[in-house]
Amino acid sequence: MSFSPTKSRAQFPALSSNAIFLDNPGGTQVPQSVIDAVSYYYTHQNANLGGAFRTSRSSESVMSDARQAAADLLDAQPNEIVFGQNMTTLTFNLARSLASRFRPGDEIVVTRLDHDANISPWTTLARDTGATIKHLDFDPTDCTLRLDQLDELIGERTKLVAIGWASNAVGTINPVAEVCAKAKAVGALSFVDAVQYAPHCSISVSDIDCDFLACSAYKFFGPHVGILWGRHSLLEELEAYKVRPAKDSAPDKFETGTLNHEGIAGTTAAINYLAGLASTTGTATSDRRSRLVESFGVMQKYEQDLCNILIKTLRANPAITVYGITDPDRATERVPTVSITVEGHTPRAVAEALGDQDIFVWDGHYYAVDVVDQLGLTGSGGMVRIGLAHYNTEQEVRRLGEAFLRITP
Ligand SMILES: Cc1ncc(COP(=O)(O)O)c(C=O)c1O
Repeated sequence: MSFSPTKSRAQFPALSSNAIFLDNPGGTQVPQSVIDAVSYYYTHQNANLGGAFRTSRSSESVMSDARQAAADLLDAQPNEIVFGQNMTTLTFNLARSLASRFRPGDEIVVTRLDHDANISPWTTLARDTGATIKHLDFDPTDCTLRLDQLDELIGERTKLVAIGWASNAVGTINPVAEVCAKAKAVGALSFVDAVQYAPHCSISVSDIDCDFLACSAYKFFGPHVGILWGRHSLLEELEAYKVRPAKDSAPDKFETGTLNHEGIAGTTAAINYLAGLASTTGTATSDRRSRLVESFGVMQKYEQDLCNILIKTLRANPAITVYGITDPDRATERVPTVSITVEGHTPRAVAEALGDQDIFVWDGHYYAVDVVDQLGLTGSGGMVRIGLAHYNTEQEVRRLGEAFLRITP
């Protein structure tokens, strides 16, 4: 049976209004089970870790359950999961820990397709250590990475390659396994930003053979919590900037201060929600990892079809330019995040006009500053981003198309 969004939508209280939520790349809505888990934590479990009383022990279980859930999500081990404030903070912290490995003349490869959270931590690391940044460009015609530049960019001086798995601006899915393999071949580390991939596709850190990967629960139907995965041996080796009484072992040593326990409880619920999607098609299998893979499989096909309808609807309007991959036969090469410009209207004016019709989209550069710059759109206010999730419907896409006709009659 194929995926239908109806049952899923019903689980999201925020989706019960008439508004159309299309800023999913900015942060998704949360199902009732996540709200309940956060609320349950405050009602029954709220305490600090390591105490000699029931709620403290219960908070410890919240942490270990969440580490197992995140490990299932990423196909990893629980002792490789670091929780933190968000992906950006975790990545800056990791860059600081990695700094002692860098020397002047070392090279770090970043891409021009990435969110700045996968660029600035590395440019500041380079600035502080005398390393050099190298940029992997993208082809503006379909917003795919210039893989032909890789062999020239990655060499014996390369110490780190940082790549996004899916673009938050134009939706391109990058061949991260190929890029990580090239990094490994020269002895460089690889860091994958999976923030925009995680809400749409299943992740296996062992399949792509990266060294670090980060994502954020609030982008995959959970609370505002960041997740960093690192190879356990590497996490153990690296120095964490921490207070003396904090544990010296990984992953705890990287979790500075007291964490957002309630959000972490909600993160487990979000991962369980995702794993449960397979059962809405009546084909659920046993363990959570298998169910997650299965859920993403069914969800992905639905999202790809919906994204094709969205792109077709947008392109039918002559005033609209769509950036990135538009060929329906290449739907598997993108996530359903589509950016556009509208002739005669600034992105802000378009977002406002849609907002007035209860359709929520983002405008600007969404921190993908190099993407907007390379497309020559910095001076004109960037783009308008329409980001679908599995709970969006064809009817909503049709309403969006009609709303555009009111803006560009
Ligand atoms: C691709 C990508 N990477 C990183 C981030 C930063 O994530 P966080 O808000 O968890 O720091 C975002 C946020 O939009 C993103 O889209």
